Amino acid sequence: MTVHIGAQPGEIAEVVLMPGDPLRAEWAAQTFLDDAVCVNRVRGMLGYTGTWKGQRVTIQGSGMGMPSLSIYANELIRDYGAKTLIRIGSCGAMQEKVQIRDIIIAMTASTLSTPSRGIFRDLNFAPCADYDLLEAAVSAARAKGSAVHVGGIYSSDVFYDERPDLNEQMVRHGILGVEMEAAELYNLAARHGVRALAVLTVSDHLLTHEALPSEDRERTFGEMVEIALEAAFA
Ligand code: HPA
Repeated sequence: MTVHIGAQPGEIAEVVLMPGDPLRAEWAAQTFLDDAVCVNRVRGMLGYTGTWKGQRVTIQGSGMGMPSLSIYANELIRDYGAKTLIRIGSCGAMQEKVQIRDIIIAMTASTLSTPSRGIFRDLNFAPCADYDLLEAAVSAARAKGSAVHVGGIYSSDVFYDERPDLNEQMVRHGILGVEMEAAELYNLAARHGVRALAVLTVSDHLLTHEALPSEDRERTFGEMVEIALEAAFA
């Protein structure tokens, strides 16, 4: 057990999928895993371990934002030996070519700050995805016929943004979408020598102001979970 995860040693798999929302962790485990067992309830941040095609997988909520994800990712890597961590979450699109329900696979993630800023200080470290995972996820998405975009994303510290100028610069520099966790996941993976990737579903659009209807969210989310699982075990 750690401060924030109640699982016993050995109850967390080496492959961990991390949705922001703990209830999505529960839904994904019940939908995609066999023999899923709840291994964490601390603070309601649900985590489940089961198998997918005979391979052990944990699906653990990360909470929203990089400080929350940092707590769970640190404990999963350092205390439970997680080796492959894939964020599965939603994002807001920042380019016209990206549509609601499309999948974004993040090569890298720009930020204003991350919990790692204390280490990097004035260095602009470029957090990047694990290439093998990225390639496998792109292949899995293409094989499914998913509309997939691969490129840079923006990991913001705020959902209610007071810096429209910053979003304009992100759009101008080709950033595909905005979310709030991936950059720190990539920083931590680099620091600890493990593999990380973020596979995202576009839930809303910052340019057109469209949003995914709630009845569509589950189906689109499922496509992303399958892509993440296929990439993890490719
Ligand atoms: N901003 C930040 N995070 C998000 C958004 C957004 O617009 N949409 C989904 N996650």
